[in-house]
Amino acid sequence: MNKTIALLTSGGDAPGMNAAIRAIVVKAQKMGFNCVGFEYGFNGLIDNQTRQLTVEDVQHISHQGGTILKSARCPRMMTSEGINQAAQNMQKLNLAGLIVIGGDGSFQGANALCQVSDVAIVGIPGTIDNDVDGCDYTIGFDTACNTAIQSVDKIRDTADAFDRAFFIEVMGRNSGHIALNVGLAVDAEYIIVPEQNLTDEQIEQKLLKAIKHHYKTNSHNSFISIIAEHSYTKGTAALAKEVESKANISCRSCELGHIQRGGVASAADRVLAIKLAELSFDALTDGKTDVMIGVVNQSPIYTPFKETGTHQKVPDKYLLEQTEKFLQ
Ligand code: F6P
Repeated sequence: MNKTIALLTSGGDAPGMNAAIRAIVVKAQKMGFNCVGFEYGFNGLIDNQTRQLTVEDVQHISHQGGTILKSARCPRMMTSEGINQAAQNMQKLNLAGLIVIGGDGSFQGANALCQVSDVAIVGIPGTIDNDVDGCDYTIGFDTACNTAIQSVDKIRDTADAFDRAFFIEVMGRNSGHIALNVGLAVDAEYIIVPEQNLTDEQIEQKLLKAIKHHYKTNSHNSFISIIAEHSYTKGTAALAKEVESKANISCRSCELGHIQRGGVASAADRVLAIKLAELSFDALTDGKTDVMIGVVNQSPIYTPFKETGTHQKVPDKYLLEQTEKFLQ
């Protein structure tokens, strides 16, 4: 068997990716494999930008946010030239397998590569969005939620001091996992997520009604709404202005943005990353390919890239029901 395993991190970086990298390198070395990393996601694979990874290279990185391999989006993986070039480079390196750490876009690229290459490829879910089907949690989601919760708790202090309404935008791309978890944890007065399929007008009306009711019954109080990005098409700042002008209540907006992507990885993210790293290595050496490894109810689940790359994970039913209560 070939004795080189490669890995790459792709798409939005997520705290815990470094813990996964370290665990793969340690396991590979223990099992007698050489390890190489492609830098900047699939770009490094297409451009043959590699670095050797030894256990010494990955010491004391598990806690660090970001990714030592760097990351990037790679539009070239949507072209046949890019995919064929990537396949040729894997062939030349005589790889035993490739581990892709990323989200659904990365798994679409990995699936395309599997169609033209004999090299085994497996994936592990790493994105703060938690929107990948085939796993309970993605690496980075827990840390991102904790970061957002700490920030919202601080905003609550000043909102309380002024009896103000705040519209706080969290990440999630087109999904509401972060918003739902953060909203529940901070006792938000309102949560808006894309899965509710509301129009801009419906969002404005529902928030207006809720704010008016809130200040009628709690005049000395703050009102916090957690808004998942892309739920309101004109942006959360515009939403705050719109509601302020109509409700005549002091409103402010805050986009938490990329702060949610960085920082020290939580215990949950590090442990998940290490477990997925071991499982991905075992999957490759067992001959699996074209699948993502997720943990569901503590057990490994192998989902074809084709499925997980095209289906967005549905949020927890209980959490979604909480938002429906606000909407009545
Ligand atoms: O997928 C992770 C994520 O942080 C999303 O939540 C967000 O929509 C997107 O990436 C932002 O991407 P970029 O950093 O390329 O602007």
